[in-house]
Amino acid sequence: MNRRALLEKWWLIPVGLTASAFAGMGLYALRVSRKSVPGAPQFQAGTAQRVAALPALGTDWAEVEFSYAGRPCVLLRLPAATLGSLDVGEQHYAAFSRVCTHLGCPVNLVRDTEVLAFSFGYRAPNPVDQHPYLGCPCHYSVFNPLASGEAVFGKAHLPLPRVRLERRGNDLWATGIEPAPENVG
Ligand code: FES
Repeated sequence: MNRRALLEKWWLIPVGLTASAFAGMGLYALRVSRKSVPGAPQFQAGTAQRVAALPALGTDWAEVEFSYAGRPCVLLRLPAATLGSLDVGEQHYAAFSRVCTHLGCPVNLVRDTEVLAFSFGYRAPNPVDQHPYLGCPCHYSVFNPLASGEAVFGKAHLPLPRVRLERRGNDLWATGIEPAPENVG
């Protein structure tokens, strides 16, 4: 190809670069938007461990952090039941591993929906879904405790592993936990 022919095709370079950039963005969007919906819990039995007394969780969205099977976890009192939660009368409790399923940073309960919107970039689409979420400070993934820990936003696409809870007298105990995804051990 001579110089003139090459010059006539120069425009192919920016067009090709733009097309590959859009293709890359499309693949990325597809990857981060493909979330796994939690199903029935797949608990692995573990040592029974007392987590908290029921009165310590006096209101909805009360939380107690604890460690179980070597993993940081959080126990929440929820305003509604979800798959894997424990009902005690009219009250609902669920516990999750705090190890983010993206790359393993510890997630925290984010109570302020404005913080979720401005710091994490997530605003729940419906007013009824405006409630606390578990958020990861590393790359801003957001998990919904009322949907069994489902990853609803960000790079994580697997739900948080759930902890099996049992009531024993006036206390809540952890008796098992779902396996961690392979990428976060
Ligand atoms: S480690 Fe949690 S979003 Fe990346």
